[in-house]
Amino acid sequence: MSRNLLASATPIALCVFCLLSTLVAAAPPVEVQSPGNVLKVTFELKEGVPTYRVSRLGRPVIETSKLGLVLQQGPDLDRGFAIASSRTSSVDETWTQVWGEKTRIRDRHNELRIELAEAAGDPRRLQIIFRVFDDGIGFRYHIPAQTGVGPIEIMNEATQFAFTGDHRAWWIPAFEPNRYEYHYTDSPLSQTTKVHTPVTFQTADGLYLSIHEAALVDFASMTLWRKAGNTFDVALVPWSDGVLVRGQAPMTSPWRTIQIADSPGGLIDSYLILNLNEPNKLRDASWIKPAKYVGIWWELHLGITTWNSGPRHGATTENARRYIDFAAKHGFDGVLVEGWNLGWDGEWWLGKTDIRFTEPYPDYDLVALADYARQRGVRLIGHHETAGGVENYERQMEDAFALCQKLGIRAVKTGYVAHGQSIQRTDEAGRTHKEWHHGQYMVRHYQKVVETAARYQVMLNVHEPIKDTGLRRTWPNMLTREGACGMEYDAWGGDNRNRPDHTTVLPFTRLLAGPMDFTPGIFDLTYEEHRPNDRVSTTLAKQLALYVVLYSPLHMAADLPQNYEARPGPFQFIKDVPTDWDDTIVLHARIGDFVTIARKDRNSDDWYIGSITDQDPRTLEAHLSFLDAGRPYIAEIYRDGGDADWEKNPYAIVIEEKRVSSTTKLPLPLAPGGGAAIRLRPATPTATLPASDAPPKPAEVR
Ligand code: NOJ
Ligand code: CA
Repeated sequence: MSRNLLASATPIALCVFCLLSTLVAAAPPVEVQSPGNVLKVTFELKEGVPTYRVSRLGRPVIETSKLGLVLQQGPDLDRGFAIASSRTSSVDETWTQVWGEKTRIRDRHNELRIELAEAAGDPRRLQIIFRVFDDGIGFRYHIPAQTGVGPIEIMNEATQFAFTGDHRAWWIPAFEPNRYEYHYTDSPLSQTTKVHTPVTFQTADGLYLSIHEAALVDFASMTLWRKAGNTFDVALVPWSDGVLVRGQAPMTSPWRTIQIADSPGGLIDSYLILNLNEPNKLRDASWIKPAKYVGIWWELHLGITTWNSGPRHGATTENARRYIDFAAKHGFDGVLVEGWNLGWDGEWWLGKTDIRFTEPYPDYDLVALADYARQRGVRLIGHHETAGGVENYERQMEDAFALCQKLGIRAVKTGYVAHGQSIQRTDEAGRTHKEWHHGQYMVRHYQKVVETAARYQVMLNVHEPIKDTGLRRTWPNMLTREGACGMEYDAWGGDNRNRPDHTTVLPFTRLLAGPMDFTPGIFDLTYEEHRPNDRVSTTLAKQLALYVVLYSPLHMAADLPQNYEARPGPFQFIKDVPTDWDDTIVLHARIGDFVTIARKDRNSDDWYIGSITDQDPRTLEAHLSFLDAGRPYIAEIYRDGGDADWEKNPYAIVIEEKRVSSTTKLPLPLAPGGGAAIRLRPATPTATLPASDAPPKPAEVR
């Protein structure tokens, strides 16, 4: 029934219409509190326009902000509503992660489900579902199946986030060529326009907020657009024809999330994004294992060897054997080999559509190498660089993953190097279009890869990815991804390389979304002979600390084998550090300045600490109260030497042991651009220990 047909509507339909019209005028606000009464969400129709607001312990955090969807078909779903029904429910359950930064996660929230119905014309229905936790909220739209609503094209999402002031913000720009690979700007939010999420805010009265989304499936990804004042509007990444999202009722949006904490560490402590995702869908996840890897990678980025075939080809059988031997000797699980397959020749980074994912270059004996690795307890890690040619990849994907399974390749790194709006899509009429990396077309593609890989028992590490929205809970083979400036920016970034504060921002921004394949562990910090204008802006000890600070279930030891063999002392930490954790605790946190994180190994009683600073030196104190009370531990400490400095003296490192306990307050002296990495293992009765907490004389080591 359309508006024009109302005149001829049946008496019953007219009654419903009258009832809904009355509700428009009368509808009182509907409130839902978090289980611990920390947060409150208020939903209110303001003259038929859906709105929400959020407060924390009585203080406003999000002021009245609009909700709704604008559709191509029919009148917009953002006004003229009445509340048809509202329901609340509660959940308090604890679930187990297949792998992660914490084994057991508590999901404790109250849900409010509002069903809106149009008060005039066709009473189309739209549901808005809120989940309110003590550490944040999520809300999503659901268009139920209903007569009169067929195919849906979303032309705008009316969601707003109206902040209470000109908050300090840490953000990267959206709709730019380099996708998510920008360094975070720290500025008042009034200096932003379009930003990616997660985006982090600090309010004048000491709250920390992160806006993001959870469970991004078959939708466009969300960016935020500040048009005026302190309010951001949602700006979904469009298809090339301007439509934002295509679908069919019933249709559900991802969750829009607001994490709210009274300390920066509180944002890291929050598992809200995972809690808003569906449970694990893989019946058997026993083949999914966090790991550490090495590979033919850094030498490519330094320009020592090439992805392309030719005299300096990196992926040769001989070179791969060298890495496999190195991995086997030092206990690494995987060896990544990039440039192994036909199709890299030419300027591959400008977009290619002829890369082969099953055919190696002639100087790379894939089958023999997979075998060679397996016999040594190591696995090759596959590499599928699509260069943005996703149709080419999709045509070969089944065969490519089947080949991996056949050869015992359990993990694949994928890549999508291409300008942010240059993914080629061919429509049914054979016309080609350029799509964004982050629109619905690519969200579908990335998801198809995850599900295809799962069928062949392959784990994924995605570079130039869609952002993480917690889908690793549902598909735990989606291990890790890039999606920020990683270590490679230090190989060729020049003036745009990672500055000392970059990794002190990432844990409070990009990593709130999920794990990152940053590829740390560079030991030769200045490689003048290869890249005279580049270097790493950290000390050696900070490279070690990154393994704990930057969470990833798949971590690379990114440097060349010879650089590790030249420094066996510090290398021991990379060999020891696990990638699967039972618990995670933030000990110190100030965004952009410093962060200390302690994590407990999932497979032993050991704890690890990583602490990093920006360009400023400082001494932090780690209170080890998380250790088992009354139990002695040995702290294996890797810290900056007295005169260490990322710029002038980056290699000065002290490696020492101390006997510690849960009452110890351990000083962490951090040099400019420095860090500290610590392994805490229970002292065994047979270990030779120093008699007291007094440390043995520290040794400056290579
Ligand atoms: C960009 C990725 O981030 C990097 O790790 C990879 O080596 C290149 N693409 C080539 O695929
Ligand atoms: Ca990249």
